[in-house]
Amino acid sequence: MRVFFLGGKGGVGKTTLACALALRLPPPVLLLSTDPAHSLADALPDPPEHITLKQLDPRAEMESYKRKLLALSSAFLSQEALRRMESLVRSLEESPGIEDVLIFEALTRELTQNNGLYENVVVDTAPTGHTLGLLKTVKNIGDLLTEVINIKEKIEKLRSYAKSKKHEQALKVLKERNERFEKFAKIVRERSAFLPVLTPDKLSLLETKRLLHSLQHFGIKVNTLIVNKVLPKSSNDPYLEKLAKQQDKYIKEIREAFPNKKVITIPMLEEEPVGRERLRTLSALLRL
Ligand SMILES: Nc1ncnc2c1ncn2[C@@H]1O[C@H](COP(=O)(O)OP(=O)(O)OP(=O)(O)O)[C@@H](O)[C@H]1O
Ligand SMILES: [Mg+2]
Repeated sequence: MRVFFLGGKGGVGKTTLACALALRLPPPVLLLSTDPAHSLADALPDPPEHITLKQLDPRAEMESYKRKLLALSSAFLSQEALRRMESLVRSLEESPGIEDVLIFEALTRELTQNNGLYENVVVDTAPTGHTLGLLKTVKNIGDLLTEVINIKEKIEKLRSYAKSKKHEQALKVLKERNERFEKFAKIVRERSAFLPVLTPDKLSLLETKRLLHSLQHFGIKVNTLIVNKVLPKSSNDPYLEKLAKQQDKYIKEIREAFPNKKVITIPMLEEEPVGRERLRTLSALLRL
């Protein structure tokens, strides 16, 4: 199984290109979205049979997370403490960043449970800020492993007084999480590629620089960049020609800013690339 993460600024074409990539990869393919906005099915309303579309849903995730946390806590806490825990969980629901944590949980589950079921997984991420929030929850593999070790210690402690059925249940939940994080870290390390998507303009270039810097900080390597919505160089329209010139200047800047990366350019299509047939035009160009 190979995993491709597409990331970048809002509106650059992450969802569109994730669908286009899914269409060219060897099947079976899982096309996952971590974006709370439900857009995969809008871009690819007619997926072929070998592509499974899945939109991760932070709300559903919150419900299951709440259930698990309370079940886990009820193994240790008194009635009074449990009530306080419940109000804490309610405030957790409103905490900033909680969606990222929940989506991350769901993502680790999808990737580890489906390991082996799919030949390729394409992950369409939300705009950069969100994606970085997501990655911050992982930080880097080192932090992840520290967390795993912490969990292991908790497991050891629990084991020493795991007598009741509830304690056993709690132990099971922690063990599952521990194993899942370890497996996820291995998948990210060994079988994943992060593909930043950008458009040839100043703001997108600046954001991509920041994105790559952050990815480096998280220990994630990038080999290829995808520059989308490139206009044809020559045209009868002076307005379009001027825009194309400006884009050309940014494409050169992009190549200079990232000299060791492969840069793939994707043309701006005349018609919105929605649906299988139009997306195939873009698929053919995504030679990674
Ligand atoms: N190469 C292209 N040619 C023409 N239109 C395109 C191209 N790529 C994307 N688009 C159009 O640009 C718009 C934004 O694309 P898309 O939704 O894929 O971006 P996104 O990065 O996923 O956005 P968001 O950050 O909101 O999730 C859509 O209308 C899409 O059809
Ligand atoms: Mg999108």
